[in-house]
Amino acid sequence: MPKEKDKRPVLITAGPTREAIDPVRYLTNHSSGKMGYAIAEAFLDKGFEVVLVSGPVGLSLTHKDLTIIDVISADEMYNACRAYFPLVQIAVFAAAVADYKPAEVRRQKMKKSGNEFSLQLVKNVDIALEFGKVKQKEQVSVGFALETNDEEQNALKKLFTKNLDMVILNSVQDKGATFGYDTNKITMINRDFVGRTFPLKSKKEVGKDIADAAISYASKQYALNKNHHDLHTI
Ligand code: PMT
Repeated sequence: MPKEKDKRPVLITAGPTREAIDPVRYLTNHSSGKMGYAIAEAFLDKGFEVVLVSGPVGLSLTHKDLTIIDVISADEMYNACRAYFPLVQIAVFAAAVADYKPAEVRRQKMKKSGNEFSLQLVKNVDIALEFGKVKQKEQVSVGFALETNDEEQNALKKLFTKNLDMVILNSVQDKGATFGYDTNKITMINRDFVGRTFPLKSKKEVGKDIADAAISYASKQYALNKNHHDLHTI
């Protein structure tokens, strides 16, 4: 039986974003959304309400406690999350958000001319980082680190720069891990530098591991803050 229903929903981002170049073309990446959707399913199975902000993916998920908000660009994903972040106790940023977008979106399809084609890109909003700036004490945010090299130190950098409570490291160097696969191989690193490396598993199982870790972290955090609060009110 699922646990007593948590009053506060869980916010999850999933999938890629698409950054328009002109009405016909866009920049994107290989994310299928499978990891984020598996995390959403794990929380739903544990009795949580879930708000899933999803980039364009070919997946579908229905559940009475699930709200899916479909978005296209990083800006849309960020704006959709802003309405919910203040309400949640747990946020999991599993989306592969484009770090850059075209400086200008052409209104017409750009005509082919010559062999070269250059595009000026500008930095996109960093969603996890923005919410890291406003995160409250009792909130828990879990981010991912998608790496190709120097995995641990890049993951640790993201843990601290984005003010995450836990970072889920997954590397394209690991066979069967990251984009598009039904499996993933993760290492969870929290702020006490405790790293837990898991074997390659189905994303369904990985989703459960991530949900379990986030829930236990949140309940410890909540108890900590409660004791701290009680101490102060004695
Ligand atoms: O979708 P699948 O095909 O199942 O693949 C799963 C996955 C590989 C996409 C997933 O496991 C994963 O690694 N997601 C994070 C991908 C990513 O953007 O990692 P990053 O190291 O570039 O970003 C670090 C963190 O910041 C992530 O939590 C990301 O959601 C967040 N971010 C990044 C950039 C940005 N502009 N805004 C963000 O919120």
